[in-house]
Amino acid sequence: MCGIIGRVGRDDAIESLVTGLENLEYRGYDSAGVAIQNGAGIKVEKRSGKVTELKHALDYGSLDGEVGIGHTRWSTHGPPTDENAHPHTDSTRDVAVVHNGIIENYASLKESLRAAGHTFTSDTDTEVIPHLIQQYLDEGLEPEAAFRAAIEDLEGSYAVTAMLAGEHVLYAARQGSPLVVGLDEDGFFLASDVPAFLEYTDDVVYLEDGDVVVVRPDGIEFTDLAGNAIDRRPETVEWDPEQAGKGEFDHFMHKEIHEQPTSLAQALEGRLDHDAHDVTLEHFPPGTFTDIERVQFIACGTSYHAGLYGSIAMNNAGIPTTTHLANEYEVSAPPADEHTLVIAVTQSGETADTLSAMRHARDQGARVLTVTNVVGSTATRVADDVLLIRAGPEIGVAATKTFSSQAVMLLLLAQRLSQDLTGASLANLEALLADLQSFPDAVERVLETTDGRRLATQYLGCQSYFFIGRGLGFPVALEGALKFKEITYEHAEGFASGELKHGPLALVTPDTPVIAVFTGQEDTKVLNNAEEAQTRGAPLIAVCPEDHQATTIADAHLPIPDVTPELAGLLANVQLQLLSYHAAAGLERAIDKPRNLAKSVTVQ
Ligand code: AGP
Repeated sequence: MCGIIGRVGRDDAIESLVTGLENLEYRGYDSAGVAIQNGAGIKVEKRSGKVTELKHALDYGSLDGEVGIGHTRWSTHGPPTDENAHPHTDSTRDVAVVHNGIIENYASLKESLRAAGHTFTSDTDTEVIPHLIQQYLDEGLEPEAAFRAAIEDLEGSYAVTAMLAGEHVLYAARQGSPLVVGLDEDGFFLASDVPAFLEYTDDVVYLEDGDVVVVRPDGIEFTDLAGNAIDRRPETVEWDPEQAGKGEFDHFMHKEIHEQPTSLAQALEGRLDHDAHDVTLEHFPPGTFTDIERVQFIACGTSYHAGLYGSIAMNNAGIPTTTHLANEYEVSAPPADEHTLVIAVTQSGETADTLSAMRHARDQGARVLTVTNVVGSTATRVADDVLLIRAGPEIGVAATKTFSSQAVMLLLLAQRLSQDLTGASLANLEALLADLQSFPDAVERVLETTDGRRLATQYLGCQSYFFIGRGLGFPVALEGALKFKEITYEHAEGFASGELKHGPLALVTPDTPVIAVFTGQEDTKVLNNAEEAQTRGAPLIAVCPEDHQATTIADAHLPIPDVTPELAGLLANVQLQLLSYHAAAGLERAIDKPRNLAKSVTVQ
């Protein structure tokens, strides 16, 4: 998705803007640009393609100036061309704007601006903003008033940053798209997320919907749209730039798969109470959910699979739970009320589909809890309750470490809900707590002993890849297939193993490996289903413990330590992450930024 970086400081802005654009690349984009305010007015450089291409084209000599804005664009209105790249300017080039989100009333605004004599050069919704500002300047408004008036005209979602020729000022506003301020000794940053400027500062202020900021080298004003001062306090983020770098790995995804022992240990830190045979969730002491009668999960993509994982654990505990794709929730959800707990699972906390479903749930009177990775994200502001997964920054577009942390957090939440709703703990709590304690080590063992690279090479170039599982193995199969297709661009599908015989078996051939996940729950049935495919020629890859019955018939084996079914699926998932990663590496795919995909999907 689009990314914004802005800088107002005492030194030339261009270097930190380009660094910011590089840091924003992980969000997914197809064009990039910068605008710098210098003695000669506003200088804009933008083009379709990668930030490196923009960087090579920059004439740094002509881009001196302490105030600037930059943008990475992920196309919504109009193709990825140089003209459609941001920043956008008005016809006089006295106003430059970068924008994330969608201006829903841009067509009518464009029409009236055209009628007033404005000429447009792009297909974007964004271009109306600099023209609106210019229109208000022409009508005699002062720059700040012109910016506010333009913002007032916009309908839809936006994070906007603007600058005007001749002024050492950035104006910014937020409504529905994230925007954060960074504060360092020499000035200020504005960005769509913290990693954009993490090399420079970890002191940040998260803006809220309706906020307008006016940033000068010596100070910043936080106001509402009407201009009234508002109180926004800086906070220090705990992510460090090294954590956000690739280290010894070729790809962020590979690094993040290997970070799982640490991210899981962080997620579990202080949350297991072995003496009390219970979990300790900050903000959720026993009794927190006694008013709740049912649970609904909402999420997209990998987070949806984590939600499905949590919902199986909750249903097994006797809690009536359903799981919904966030983008379908408003049209197909069962009724919700004040006795409904809606759990929104979202790594980024900025997924537009999930945020919209959360707002819908709140409108129904439901209590909304978000399980997220990003402190201060929009989801944390929309939700009544927040449970942080503490996975650290995830840069690869393919979610890996955040899936395992989400699932583990949902198992802990299942225990709290089970006690509050049914008066009983999870059936195998004792074994689960013991295995959770050593879970980071179990993941480490998978990472150290995996045969994923060899198998990925052996089965490269097949027609399709089918992932199957049952119970807790089913969301793992779905997630395995999503990861595989997302980064290899090969066809992959996940199925409930029992579903194969209801249709997909027609697709099975010797050229369609079946990867079967065994969790220790109903494994005999999974094995029968897998054998049905193997009998029809499909190579069978079993993901299961060393001494499992499946190893006696499987064509290949990805081993996992023997743990409770609640955790076996997650160990299997690490093997599947590695299988996908090595297959994609063998195919030389753009693993961290797969084509057409974005890390944070902020449009519906
Ligand atoms: C997963 O690999 C994908 N990048 C995608 O499915 C992602 O999980 C989905 O877009 C939801 O994102 P969120 O967790 O940030 O809400």
